Amino acid sequence: MNQETSRDYCSWLIHVKLSRIVAMVLAILIFTPLITHFYLSKVERSSYLIEHGAHSHQDLNEDFYMFKESDLKVGVEELLRIRGSVLSELRDIEKKRQQYKQEIQSYAKNIEELKLELSHQQTSLNRLKISVEQAQVAQHEALQQNTPDLALPKKLTVDTLPSILPPIPRNASIHCRMYNCFDHSRCSLTSGFPVYLYDPDQFPVMNDGWDVDGFLKTTLKQTLGYNPHLTNNPKEACIYLVLVGEALKDTDDVSENVGNHLNLPPLDSEALKRLPFWGGDGRNHILLNLARRDLTTTSGDIFSKTDTGRAILVQSTFRSDFFRPGFDLIISPVLGPPGGDVWQECAPMVPVRRKYLLTFQGEMKMLKSERNASSRTDHFDDIEDSDADVDKFVIDHLGSLSESETSDKFIFEFVCNPASDNNINSGSQDWALCGTDTSRRSVLKMSTFVLIFAPRHVELVSTTLLQARVYEALRSGAIPVILGGDQTRLAYDEVIQWRRAAIFVPRARITELHFLLRALPDEDVLLMRRQGRLVWERYLASVQSTLDTIVAVLRDRLNIPALPADNFKAMSVFNETFQPIQVPVASDAEQEESLGPLEPPFDSPAYRRNYSLSLVHGHAVWNEWGDPFRLYPHLPFDAALSADAKFLGSGRGFRPIGQGQGGAGKEFSEALGGNYAREQFTVLVLTYEREQVLLDSIARLRGLPYLNSVVVVWNSPRPPSPELRWPDIGAPVRVVKAARNSLNNRFLPLDCLRTEAILSVDDDAHLRHDEILFGFRVWREHRDKIVGFPGRYHAWDLNTKNSWLYNSNYSCELSMVLTGAAFVHRHYLHLYWKWLPQAIRDKVDEYMNCEDIAMNFLVSHFTRKPPVKVTSRWTFRCPGCPQSLSEDDTHFQERHKCINFFTQVFGYLPLLNTQYRADSILFKTRIPHDKQKCFKFI
Ligand SMILES: *[C@@H]1O[C@H](CO)[C@@H](O)[C@H](O)[C@H]1NC(C)=O
Ligand SMILES: *[C@@H]1O[C@H](CO)[C@@H](O)[C@H](O)[C@H]1NC(C)=O
Ligand SMILES: *[C@@H]1O[C@H](CO)[C@@H](O)[C@H](O)[C@H]1NC(C)=O
Ligand SMILES: *[C@@H]1O[C@H](CO)[C@@H](O)[C@H](O)[C@H]1NC(C)=O
Ligand SMILES: *[C@@H]1O[C@H](CO)[C@@H](O)[C@H](O)[C@H]1NC(C)=O
Repeated sequence: MNQETSRDYCSWLIHVKLSRIVAMVLAILIFTPLITHFYLSKVERSSYLIEHGAHSHQDLNEDFYMFKESDLKVGVEELLRIRGSVLSELRDIEKKRQQYKQEIQSYAKNIEELKLELSHQQTSLNRLKISVEQAQVAQHEALQQNTPDLALPKKLTVDTLPSILPPIPRNASIHCRMYNCFDHSRCSLTSGFPVYLYDPDQFPVMNDGWDVDGFLKTTLKQTLGYNPHLTNNPKEACIYLVLVGEALKDTDDVSENVGNHLNLPPLDSEALKRLPFWGGDGRNHILLNLARRDLTTTSGDIFSKTDTGRAILVQSTFRSDFFRPGFDLIISPVLGPPGGDVWQECAPMVPVRRKYLLTFQGEMKMLKSERNASSRTDHFDDIEDSDADVDKFVIDHLGSLSESETSDKFIFEFVCNPASDNNINSGSQDWALCGTDTSRRSVLKMSTFVLIFAPRHVELVSTTLLQARVYEALRSGAIPVILGGDQTRLAYDEVIQWRRAAIFVPRARITELHFLLRALPDEDVLLMRRQGRLVWERYLASVQSTLDTIVAVLRDRLNIPALPADNFKAMSVFNETFQPIQVPVASDAEQEESLGPLEPPFDSPAYRRNYSLSLVHGHAVWNEWGDPFRLYPHLPFDAALSADAKFLGSGRGFRPIGQGQGGAGKEFSEALGGNYAREQFTVLVLTYEREQVLLDSIARLRGLPYLNSVVVVWNSPRPPSPELRWPDIGAPVRVVKAARNSLNNRFLPLDCLRTEAILSVDDDAHLRHDEILFGFRVWREHRDKIVGFPGRYHAWDLNTKNSWLYNSNYSCELSMVLTGAAFVHRHYLHLYWKWLPQAIRDKVDEYMNCEDIAMNFLVSHFTRKPPVKVTSRWTFRCPGCPQSLSEDDTHFQERHKCINFFTQVFGYLPLLNTQYRADSILFKTRIPHDKQKCFKFI
């Protein structure tokens, strides 16, 4: 109602002014000639009077001479005087005329201004109308939805220790599965999966003469300390971890194989039963054997002589008759460092084809009693195993392969160099590793594929040795080819899709192996290698990743959601008592169109998929873009609803254009449309000691539709001056203190960022509202990509021919969009801090540069897609953007170096080229003048 009146008032105002001007003009037009006429006639009359008035005609002659001199003089003077006064009056009139002309002009200008004002007022009126309509829709939705939002049930944890139940008979535990041996009542869906660790020093479970490796004990305690599921309270725990290995004999020499010479088994059944929370049968207990060597003999492993009740066994060696699928867990031995960056361990992924197509280094190893040093060459003869013939055939075939006429190169070593220093040995008859870690690694780095033999004893589904070989191969980027792969299972195979990273071939296919490997195209070889590295880095590389993975797999079985990822707590630069000065700002004259409703801030709904993510996207979470260890509020990969569903019952939050009818200009500006429910975006600005520039930038955001809030990261150690006058832009502005001055702070996943869409801008970027909103709309269709304005690319250095250059020249192909003005999904801020190796953030700090390149690498790596550039460049003004630094040579040199360094860290160059730019649909379309485009100018 108010708006209506104000519009009426406006037009009335204009009307009044107009009529005044018209009257004025009329007055001028009519009165000026009248006045002129009056004056002229007066002058004529007075001169007539002089000539004819006082003297009669007949006196003229006489008087002539009498008056001639004096009167003439007077007359002339009189005439001159009159002329003067007439002239001055004319001047006055001319002056007046000029004045009136000026007035007319200024009134005309006023009219123009008022017209403009009217159109602005109309624009904001329209916008207010849309806003009111949108608010009504939202209110309607809220009313219609008569069920309240789903509330989280209270965190439900047990508060009792496990009760004592009678132990189960030893021969029954082989039938254990989750449904009959696991107590689900201790692990509610909302419990957060608390994990209790028995301190291995306080509760030893090994028999006399045995002990758990000291390094493992310390590392385990330390690394589990970082796991958010760890609890000190046994009453609330869902599972209990018991460290049982790596078992060492007290007097043991690490390289010595001891399995066969013990009287006592390593594990003490009675000690297990004495564990305070064993509960009689070991329900929910996890026995961890993290052995790097294995004590397996053909007759059994570390657990085989022990009564383990209902406990879950976790180790890398299993016999098929003891392995309980879906209950026990096969892991990879802990061969890596405790934690930290592991990328240095890896070989580059490119070139795809390496020097050797296939390699193998190993030696058939026999039990000590069987070992016969004098018969190394014919060591197959004394294996009683019937598979000996097969092995001999395989080896003969491989030998002939390397001697054949093919151009492919192979290395097959079936006998170890005597100087070998094995650190992963097997107790069983099996293929031992040859050489040192370094020497094997150098061969693996040159191998496209590496051959791995399945355990010789077919009843073994997995051995430490097999897992160790896979570990080594993935680390060096050699794709494992597991001969006899149909017999084996690799680590965590209930969640990891190993077929994407390794090739499993039955032994019988040995003759087809060469053909098979040659048939793989480079793209797939690279995919497999990349997948192998992903699996290795995430799940196998360090003690930390191994323990996190074990906990995550068990949690995943129960479909309990992971704990939420850590946010950075945003600390305001202002103290509680200080209220920053807020000043109103004039509306931006550039806003000549209504671009959308002004709504109160609302946050993107978070954590909606707690219980469904691992069900519908489980494979992707474990094997692709996901992070199975943590739960994130939203993902860029969340699926869209189908187009019809939102009109048939699931329409809540959707704002279809023209309520589903579609439309151009007007309807388009009124609704967000698209495939996702309505949302807003947050502007994220990093600033350093440019207060006025920053304030101006913020002021320009006034009246920006769909703006949730502005978050300013204050990188300077000096707090803002208290006199600063912050513009009041109608949306909250939060100024957040940075711990230190770092460009990495541009991507802090702050808890005050409450929308999925983050518009990252430099403090001096000048984007117009229509450009921002168009970018936002495009991003909504490319939520997993960087969507923004300034494009750059990586270029091959033709001088060195082995490195990359950063390039910002004009080009029809780009591979990066700078985050000085770009939309990114909030999830990538988490990944930037959590997933990206520390070395990259260190490099950003070292150069004070390249954080935007790092973000482009990160997103392209995860999505294997290029960024999206929106609108043409001429509308993008960014005075402080790197392009103006082009003269600054060191800036460019650093960026070249960054690309090359990041490529090294990632193992390949993840950036992808694009030749595509997004413009709005009707941009440059010729349409009838009574029709509207999507945006007026873009
Ligand atoms: C398990 O062992 C008990 C006695 O030790 C025996 O009575 C029972 O038959 C066995 N059960 C199975 C399934 O072998
Ligand atoms: C080792 O092999 C040789 C020749 O085959 C045989 O004579 C000898 O008895 C074997 N030694 C052992 C300990 O088996
Ligand atoms: C809060 O900050 C203002 C301005 O920075 C300062 O004047 C004031 O003393 C501070 N108050 C407290 C309690 O620190
Ligand atoms: C999902 O998990 C998050 C984080 O733990 C929690 O805040 C949220 O309430 C959960 N939502 C539901 C519906 O369980
Ligand atoms: C950019 O273009 C200019 C002129 O075409 C050229 O001189 C310069 O070397 C180019 N810069 C790069 C980094 O390619």
